[in-house]
Amino acid sequence: MHAVRVLLAIESSCDETAAAVVRDDGTILSSIVASQFELHQEFGGVVPEIASRAHVRRILPVIDAALKQAACSAADLSAIAVTTEPGLVGSLLVGLTAAKTISMSLRIPLVTVNHIEAHIYACGMGQPASIYPCAGFVVSGGHTNLYDCRSATSCQLIGSTTDDAAGEAFDKVAKILGLPYPGGPSIQTAALTGDASKYKMPRPLLHTGRLDFSFSGLKTAVLYAARGVPGPNQLKHTPVESVANLAAAFQEATVEVLVAKCRLAVRQLRYSRLCVGGGVAANQRFRDELQKMATNERIELLVAPLALCTDNAAMAAIAWDLLKAGRIATLEADVLPGLVRHDFKRV
Ligand code: KG4
Ligand code: ZN
Repeated sequence: MHAVRVLLAIESSCDETAAAVVRDDGTILSSIVASQFELHQEFGGVVPEIASRAHVRRILPVIDAALKQAACSAADLSAIAVTTEPGLVGSLLVGLTAAKTISMSLRIPLVTVNHIEAHIYACGMGQPASIYPCAGFVVSGGHTNLYDCRSATSCQLIGSTTDDAAGEAFDKVAKILGLPYPGGPSIQTAALTGDASKYKMPRPLLHTGRLDFSFSGLKTAVLYAARGVPGPNQLKHTPVESVANLAAAFQEATVEVLVAKCRLAVRQLRYSRLCVGGGVAANQRFRDELQKMATNERIELLVAPLALCTDNAAMAAIAWDLLKAGRIATLEADVLPGLVRHDFKRV
């Protein structure tokens, strides 16, 4: 029996089935992540129907494993948290249904969590002080979003991509280069032996003075540099000798834009703290360049620990803050799969 309160968190918004047990002081007692990348690898991206079916098969074993690793029984739980937005509709529904069932049968509060806010919250896990207020940046396979974060329960979107997300661009460029999925880690490894200066890549929207991103043009630039322009002479595969240099050139261009927009956000918001999370925040080149920028700008930089960058359930510990703010969901709670996009025309 635990003297302190613990909650079980469930995350199934995309292609990871995850569960974690987290104490009310933020200590992670267990975190289980069952990745599905082997199921989606041959398609070069996540196939929603395959993802939701795999969640159905895995969710109960993953929850059991999380409870076991935490040496905790269902009766010890004070609350159940689950990601309900944004994400793939079928995948989110699997997690929400499991969470509602647990909430109802154990008569414990249900807390619904925003996946992106949780990615930012992950930057503060293990830190002694609160990360708020801060400029928040979530760079993942689905999002490239900048936020004005006043508290865990108040994050306002201030910038986002107009087309592909940064992680999506890593995945698509990896496919062009014949590198395995997920593309981010593959490109990072290939780039280590490459020379970025061999190719000149665009830096999309770098000088707009706005917090918007675009990656589809950069992706096309890589395609043309790798295979030639469309027509009878376009190659079917990228020549092996070009792969490392193209990976390095793409990574440099992407990292430069991401870091520049973070700098702009911090300056516009006049905050002295920047928090960066999401799968792309695992990229070492990006982390190094962010740190240089933060030192120059004299701001505090908190990048999520590596294990909490990519999708996991432990970051749903944000639910403790939501609970304190009285944000308890009912069994009527539904999923909100929609993509989060900033409407620059309205600003
Ligand atoms: O946060 P995440 O696990 O899932 C989403 O919410 O999308 O992010 C997954 C994304 C993928 O696009 C993957 O290629 C990218 O994060 N990623 C990376 C790295 N590790 C994962 N991108 C660049 N460099 C990495 N080391
Ligand atoms: Zn994510």
